[in-house]
Amino acid sequence: MLFVMERCVMAIEIIATGRAIPPNRVTNDDLAQRLDTSDEWIRSHTGIRARHLADTGIASSDLALEAGKQALAQAIERGMVEEKTPEELALTLDLVIVGTSTQDFHGTPSTACVVQDKLEARNAGAFDVSAACTSFIYGLESAAGLLAVNASRKRALVIGAEVLSRITDWNDRSTCILFGDGAGAVLIEKTAAPSSGPGRRGLLRTVLGSDGSGRESLIVRRGGSRAPFQKGEVVEIPACVEMDGRAVYTFAVKAVTDTIERLLAEEGIGLNDVARIVPHQANARIVAAAGKRLGITDDKFFLNIEEYANTSSASIPIALDELNRSAQIKRGDLVLTIGFGGGLTYGGNLIIW
Ligand code: COA
Repeated sequence: MLFVMERCVMAIEIIATGRAIPPNRVTNDDLAQRLDTSDEWIRSHTGIRARHLADTGIASSDLALEAGKQALAQAIERGMVEEKTPEELALTLDLVIVGTSTQDFHGTPSTACVVQDKLEARNAGAFDVSAACTSFIYGLESAAGLLAVNASRKRALVIGAEVLSRITDWNDRSTCILFGDGAGAVLIEKTAAPSSGPGRRGLLRTVLGSDGSGRESLIVRRGGSRAPFQKGEVVEIPACVEMDGRAVYTFAVKAVTDTIERLLAEEGIGLNDVARIVPHQANARIVAAAGKRLGITDDKFFLNIEEYANTSSASIPIALDELNRSAQIKRGDLVLTIGFGGGLTYGGNLIIW
């Protein structure tokens, strides 16, 4: 009962954002020098022009840490918190959650624990979320629920971070052109604002879905308990993403349309109420196809896939940070996010910024 009451009364707001983009920019033309592909094919089939790849030795937690630090610094710069330094603010975190498919370590420790340690967020619980490209949506809802359920919890850092280049087969032109590395972070806080009724703010509603029967469509087959590496085994490519592109494409278009329709229907609002739709950046054609089905104009969707390619769980928080820092979304705007990917998983949030 307490949970229900508190969730209805107190808003869970995003108060700051951050991102980390590796400096090494690899264009389609760069890839075409060593693969049978072209800038024209990649752009026309995906909307991607470039991707940023992490240098050797950089792991997901390094990018996650940088994005998280940026979010903490922004909260201080913009006067969103009373704390005066990132170190002080880190001590107030109750949770550090990292969505990733490219954990620093296989199984344990979680990438979130590495970030929690390096941030010196000594009062925070930390864990990873594994829902492929939908991990940020799942992570945000998990964080909101955990803040709402306990009166003493107030703040959480939710991060999506990936070094997908480490699980990419760079000789497979049908997958390697799609992915990039990066991280995005949001600092969320349980505030005194209402979450329903007049003046409501923050995370209004989330849809979470899955269809595990499609798990083979996007899969890293080797290295887990199903197919562990054997002693003495020689492998050329230890663990990499395999994908049925057509199947994922069809699923994704339906996931985007269904998530938009469901969020709007459950909230009892129309498309005109939404300022910006922030979809997972997997393929510009997926977004265009879903937009066409629903009669949504292209400018309603925010796309930055051209520069970063598909950064999986990082793509939505990177996009939110770009929009936030460039003031393309402002306080009071209604933002709709949509994630979809391996699992198969999908979901979305409605957020009053
Ligand atoms: N460069 C040039 N040609 C390529 C190529 C590349 N990078 N990748 C594939 N091709 C070729 C194929 O070999 C095929 O040639 P063929 O007809 O001679 O056999 C042709 O292009 C068409 O391939 P196809 O797989 O049918 O292309 P497509 O139009 O379905 O586009 C994807 C492929 C991967 C771009 C598309 O299926 C897709 O985006 N799927 C969703 C993937 C995704 O978003 N995954 C992540 C979800 S989180």
